[in-house]
Amino acid sequence: MEIRIFKSEVEASRFVCKRLIETLDESRSVNLGLATGGTYVSTYERLVDAYQRGEVTFNHVRTFNLDEYLDLSPDHPQTYRNFMQRHLFAHVDIPAQNIHFPPTDEHADYSAYDSLIEAKGGIDLQLLGIGANGHIAFNEPGTPFDSRTHRIKLDETTRRANQRFFKRFEDVPHYAVTMGVATILDARSILLSAFGEEKAEAVRAMIKDTPDPQTPATALQKHPDVTIVLDEAAAQKVRA
Ligand code: F6R
Repeated sequence: MEIRIFKSEVEASRFVCKRLIETLDESRSVNLGLATGGTYVSTYERLVDAYQRGEVTFNHVRTFNLDEYLDLSPDHPQTYRNFMQRHLFAHVDIPAQNIHFPPTDEHADYSAYDSLIEAKGGIDLQLLGIGANGHIAFNEPGTPFDSRTHRIKLDETTRRANQRFFKRFEDVPHYAVTMGVATILDARSILLSAFGEEKAEAVRAMIKDTPDPQTPATALQKHPDVTIVLDEAAAQKVRA
């Protein structure tokens, strides 16, 4: 694991944006794994700015989002598809058919998402955030490390953390579909960002504890190419 600590979220996001631009600056097509949530809002904003300045194109990029809520109507502003549309896709030249989300139909074969990723050549760079409970994507504590894309019941802690995106706690979805831990570990490179002191304990556990499905992020210790990008607040228990 390479650990990069920045003074602020702004500087950290600048680094992540630069890494993305370098990854996209290749003649061959690139498969990106994308995360939603508050952590990546400023990275995507910078990426859109870079696109508008002509510094990057998405016309050779395929995207695979980590997860999607199951109990929200498609026109709800907080679906992850709508989040991505608002923060990135609507502003750049990515071909619509290159945008992928896990299947959300009630009787969907979720493993088809793993097969699709594999058929398209696998993920080159996977972006991740981390939950204060140590989740990656929506792999909540206890999810096996060999899990593939699956349906999951969200922890109450996750629903509380995401309440800020909804009017009322009752409106926060209970179910989601998520790439599994093994799906994530298949990516060639992984970059996890974490900002703010509420992430400090999960970040410490991810880096220092013995890998254990009770803290899904500890699975990243098993991957050969992981960069952890932190601001000082999220890094406070790593430095100690
Ligand atoms: C989002 C996702 C989640 C978030 C995590 C942190 O697609 O997979 O694991 O990355 O819950 O969320 P924020 O960034 O809102 O703190």
